[in-house]
Amino acid sequence: MKILAEALILVFFSIFLGSEHRICQAFSSNYNARTKCLIEPKTAQDGGGIIANPDFTHGMEGWAVYGQGAMKEQMSRNGNRFIVAYNRTQSLDSISQKVQLGGGLIYSFSAWIQINKGSERVAVVFKIPHTERVIGGRVLARNGCWSLLKGGIFANFTSHADILFESNDTSTEIWVDSVSLQQFTLEQWRAQQDKKIDKERKSKVRFKVTYGNGTAVDSATVSIKQTRSEFPFGCGMNFHIIDSTDYQNWFASRFKYTTFTNQMKWYSNEPKQGQENYTVADTMVKFAQQNGISIRGHNILWDDPKYQPEWVKNLTSDELRKAAAKRVDSVVSRYAGQLIAWDVMNENLHFSFFEDKLGKNASSRYFKRAYELDPKTTMFLNEFNTIEYSNDEDVDPISYMKKLSVILSNPGNQGILAGIGLEGHFGVGQPNLAYMRSVLDILSSTGLPIWLTEVDVVKEPNQAEYLEQILREGYCHHAVEGIIMFAGPATAGFNATTLVDKDFKNTPSGDVVDKLIDEWRTKPTETKADGEGYFEMSLFHGDYNITIKNPVTNCSTTLSSRVTKGTTCIHIIA
Ligand SMILES: *[C@@H]1O[C@H](CO)[C@@H](O)[C@H](O)[C@H]1NC(C)=O
Ligand SMILES: *[C@@H]1O[C@H](CO)[C@@H](O)[C@H](O)[C@H]1NC(C)=O
Ligand SMILES: *[C@@H]1O[C@H](CO)[C@@H](O)[C@H](O)[C@H]1NC(C)=O
Ligand SMILES: *[C@@H]1O[C@H](CO)[C@@H](O)[C@H](O)[C@H]1NC(C)=O
Ligand SMILES: *[C@@H]1O[C@H](CO)[C@@H](O)[C@H](O)[C@H]1NC(C)=O
Ligand SMILES: *[C@@H]1O[C@H](CO)[C@@H](O)[C@H](O)[C@H]1NC(C)=O
Ligand SMILES: *[C@@H]1O[C@H](CO)[C@@H](O)[C@H](O)[C@H]1NC(C)=O
Ligand SMILES: *[C@@H]1O[C@H](CO)[C@@H](O)[C@H](O)[C@H]1NC(C)=O
Ligand SMILES: *[C@@H]1O[C@H](CO)[C@@H](O)[C@H](O)[C@H]1NC(C)=O
Ligand SMILES: *[C@@H]1O[C@H](CO)[C@@H](O)[C@H](O)[C@H]1NC(C)=O
Repeated sequence: MKILAEALILVFFSIFLGSEHRICQAFSSNYNARTKCLIEPKTAQDGGGIIANPDFTHGMEGWAVYGQGAMKEQMSRNGNRFIVAYNRTQSLDSISQKVQLGGGLIYSFSAWIQINKGSERVAVVFKIPHTERVIGGRVLARNGCWSLLKGGIFANFTSHADILFESNDTSTEIWVDSVSLQQFTLEQWRAQQDKKIDKERKSKVRFKVTYGNGTAVDSATVSIKQTRSEFPFGCGMNFHIIDSTDYQNWFASRFKYTTFTNQMKWYSNEPKQGQENYTVADTMVKFAQQNGISIRGHNILWDDPKYQPEWVKNLTSDELRKAAAKRVDSVVSRYAGQLIAWDVMNENLHFSFFEDKLGKNASSRYFKRAYELDPKTTMFLNEFNTIEYSNDEDVDPISYMKKLSVILSNPGNQGILAGIGLEGHFGVGQPNLAYMRSVLDILSSTGLPIWLTEVDVVKEPNQAEYLEQILREGYCHHAVEGIIMFAGPATAGFNATTLVDKDFKNTPSGDVVDKLIDEWRTKPTETKADGEGYFEMSLFHGDYNITIKNPVTNCSTTLSSRVTKGTTCIHIIA
C-alpha cells in the first residue's frame, strides 16, 4: 500500500513538472524505481471500517447522490466495480454516505479516487449538522491512475455526518472506490503510537559477550547506559537566555537542539538599513556551542509582509533586490557550517512579499544562493497549518509538494539538501491526529526529512494533554526526523506553551516534556548474559556506554556503541 502510494506521488510530481527527469534530479532518493500507475485501486483499508458497501461490490447500496448530480456504477476491464459521480454543477455535487460519528473518537479515512480527465484536487468533506464543514483530506486525482486520498477527522461530539467529495472543476466526473473510515478511541490511538515508537525509534539488539580469544563469557554482568538520544527533540530559545543562569541551566540540562525564536531574523539583525548587529545572535550561538546544542537557522527571509524590517517595507523593487541579496549573503556566510538547518524563505506558501516585488521565482533564487554559501546545511521550507488545520488549502500537502518541486527544479537547485518544516502551532480543541498522520504519510513520499519546527499549543484547559498527543504523533512517525517546540520559561515570555513558571517549577506542559524526554531513553540497566554469553534488549536509538566486568580478572571495561535503526547485534569483548 505504502509503496504504491509513493509511486502515485511521483506521478503527481510529473504532472506539475511535465517530466520525470527533472523530478529525479530534484529528489535524490530512489524515486525512479517506484514510478507506477495504479490501473486498479487497492481494496478498502481494514475492510472499510464503518463504511457500508465500501468496495461497491453491492452496486450503489448505501450510497446516495449528494447535491445536483447523478451517480452510476461502472466496471473496469478487469471487472472491478466502482462508482461515478457525474453531471455535476456544484463543487460538492458527488456521492455520499451517512455515518454515525461517536463523540471523542478519532476517524481515519481513505479512498481511491480517479477523475475522467486531466488532474484536479479532490477533497473528502464531512458535513456535520450545526458545524462548519470539515475537510478530511485531499488528493491530486488524475485520469488514468487511481490515487489514494488519505485523511481523517476527530469527532468532538456524537452526531451523524455525511461523507462526500469535493472538486471545483464541475466538468469532471469523480470516480470513487475502496472507501474506508476506521474509528479509534484515544486509548487505541495511543496504543498504536506506542507500537510505532517501538518499531521506529528502538531496535532489538542481540549482544554476545566473549573474551579476547573468542570464548563466550558465561553469565557475564553487563551495565548499559544511554549517553545520547538519536532523535532530536529540542526547544526554541530567545535572548533572555543570555542573562538568566536559571534559563541556561534549565535549557542545557534538557535539550541538545534549538531554534532561536526571533534573534536570527532580518528585523533583529538589521533593524536600521546598513546597521547590522549580530551581537545577540552571536552570543546565543556561543552559548549553544559551549553546551553541545545544535541550532536550526531561523530564518533567512520571511515572505510575510508584516514581518519585514520597517525600512524594508517601502523599498522599490530594485532597492529590495539589493537589500535582500545583501541580507542573505550576510547571515548565511556568517553562520555557514555552524547550523544544522536553514529556514530559507519562511512561510512562502501563505505569503509572497518577495515574489510580488521581485518575480515568481524569488524563493527559488534565495534557496540557490543559500545553497551556494552553505552547501552542506539542509535548506527547509517552513509553514504553519499543514498539520494543524485541514481546511487551509494553501498549505496542504499538495500545495506544499508543488512549492517544493518548483524550488528544487529551478536551475542550480538540483543538489540542495532539502527539508520539510512543519511549524505545528496548534489552536484550541482536540488536534486532528488522523489528519496529521495522513499529512506526514503523504509528505514522507518525497523521501525528504520532515521536522516539526515550532510546536506549541495555545493556552486552553487541555493544553498539556494535547501537547503530549502531538509530540507522540510526531515522534512515532518514521519520516519525522526532529521536533523543536516553541516553548520555554514564563520569565522568557513563552506565554503560549509555558514549560516552567517564574520560579522554574514545571507547569503541566513542562511535566509532559520531562516525562517524554525520560520515556524516550533507555533507563540505565544491568543485565546478565546467558551461559553462551548472549542476551537481548530493545534499546532506543542513540549512543551507549556498555560496561562489562571480566569474571576472571574482575577488571571492568567500558565500550561505547551506537544503536541505530539497522543495529541488530553487538559484540562485547570483556
Ligand atoms: C444532468 O443534468 C441536467 C441539467 O441539470 C439534467 O437536466 C439531467 O436530467 C441530468 N441527468 C441525469 C442523468 O441526472
Ligand atoms: C468541534 O469541531 C469543529 C470542527 O473542528 C469545530 O468547529 C467546533 O467548534 C468543535 N466543537 C466543540 C464543541 O469543540
Ligand atoms: C474549491 O475552491 C474553494 C475556494 O477557492 C477552496 O476553498 C476549496 O478548497 C476548493 N476545493 C478543492 C477540492 O480544491
Ligand atoms: C579464553 O580466555 C578465557 C579467559 O582468559 C579462558 O578462561 C579460556 O579458557 C580461553 N579459551 C580458550 C579456548 O583459550
Ligand atoms: C561513557 O564512557 C566514556 C569512555 O569510557 C566516558 O568518558 C564517559 O564519561 C561515559 N559517559 C557516561 C555518561 O557515562
Ligand atoms: C548591538 O546590539 C546590542 C544588543 O542589543 C547593543 O547592546 C549594541 O549597542 C548594538 N550595537 C550597535 C552598534 O548598535
Ligand atoms: C512607508 O510608506 C507609507 C505610505 O506610503 C508611509 O506612511 C510610511 O511612513 C512609510 N514608512 C517608512 C518606514 O518610510
Ligand atoms: C527563474 O525561473 C525561470 C523559469 O523557470 C528560469 O528560466 C530562470 O533561470 C530562473 N532564474 C533564476 C535566477 O533561477
Ligand atoms: C504574551 O502574551 C501577551 C498577551 O496575550 C502578548 O501581547 C505578548 O506578545 C506575549 N508575549 C510573547 C513574548 O509572546
Ligand atoms: C573477583 O571477585 C570475586 C567476588 O567478588 C572474588 O571471589 C574473586 O577472588 C575475585 N578475583 C580476582 C582475580 O580478584
